Amino acid sequence: MQKQEYESKIQELMTLLEASKQLNSNLEMDEVLESILLQMVQVVGAEAGTLWLLDKQRQKIKASAAYGPSAADILNIELANDEGLVGKVIRTGVAQLIENVTENRDWTARVDETSGFVTKSMITVPLAVKGTVLGALQLLNKQDIAFFSEQDISLAVALANQSALALHNSQMYEELQQMLLSMIRTLAKILDARDPYTAGHSERVAKYSLWIAQKLELAVQDCEALYKAALLHDIGKIGVTDDILRKPDRLTAEEYLAIKQHTVIGADILSNIEPKDAMIHAVETALSHHERLDGTGYPHGLVGNDIPLFARIVGVADAFDAMTTARSYSKGLSFKLGAEELIRCSGTLFEARVVRAFTTILEECNYETDRYDAQQERGYGL
Ligand SMILES: [Fe+2]
Repeated sequence: MQKQEYESKIQELMTLLEASKQLNSNLEMDEVLESILLQMVQVVGAEAGTLWLLDKQRQKIKASAAYGPSAADILNIELANDEGLVGKVIRTGVAQLIENVTENRDWTARVDETSGFVTKSMITVPLAVKGTVLGALQLLNKQDIAFFSEQDISLAVALANQSALALHNSQMYEELQQMLLSMIRTLAKILDARDPYTAGHSERVAKYSLWIAQKLELAVQDCEALYKAALLHDIGKIGVTDDILRKPDRLTAEEYLAIKQHTVIGADILSNIEPKDAMIHAVETALSHHERLDGTGYPHGLVGNDIPLFARIVGVADAFDAMTTARSYSKGLSFKLGAEELIRCSGTLFEARVVRAFTTILEECNYETDRYDAQQERGYGL
């Protein structure tokens, strides 16, 4: 092998190593897809590229990441699961190198017609893990010279194998997150179903808490963690008996003490869930959502910022929902009166900036929270 060839092989290996290091350091699906595609385009020197993912349930292939002059038009295009070269590569699991697409009978011009891009030559490689094809990567138009080489395709295949593994991990991670959220939601529903007056309480408190967090410009990860913690804030009521929980009359001092225990019970239940790190916020929120700024809350009479932020937010959302929901003993306040009550207790029971964030939201939607729903939850991963 010539010295030059050695050098180019070493360069290839370095690129592959660097690419796989970056891929495996990330689990967020969109970023993984973008990163895979960008690495590929750079490594083989293509003008453009598209990453296609197979949606098994819908029997479709979707352009899930795109790079190049027509990227915005290509993104989200859907193909039938056997359409064109991409369909063929996904079906057979065999990479294809095509020097001139117009002379290839599997070529479908539909994507070019939609995007206005002119494809000349291309490499299409499968993204496969343990024999299962997840999608395909298409690299279009070799830059500077006319055609892709066999060396380009072997490089693309090697990188595609690394990428598929990262993609597989990311898909599994997303599925796990989805499963976790749906299980948390189910738990919250089971809890709310015990008392007809609290139907939907946990979901509403979680939704209000999320809106407040977004208004306060908390990081996306914090918003998601808060949403989950808020769904579980009353989980400790599982440990309070029905006759006390559903009692229509005034509670005795002893019964009130038993109700207050739901905070401690909830924290205890949630602290058993592994991994513990992931549950810290939920444990704190269950324990402290009835603490009040001036120290008059329970179970520990915490004051001001000693109350965790998530619990201060959920405390406001929870109090508002309790005030505005019909109970056996009261009809419930209107949303406007509920907001006025929060403002009245702002700075004493509730943190002023949290109350301000929430009452601003209520004003913005003219106290019709269903309208705010539609605006805010679109495009949000919850
Ligand atoms: Fe509570």
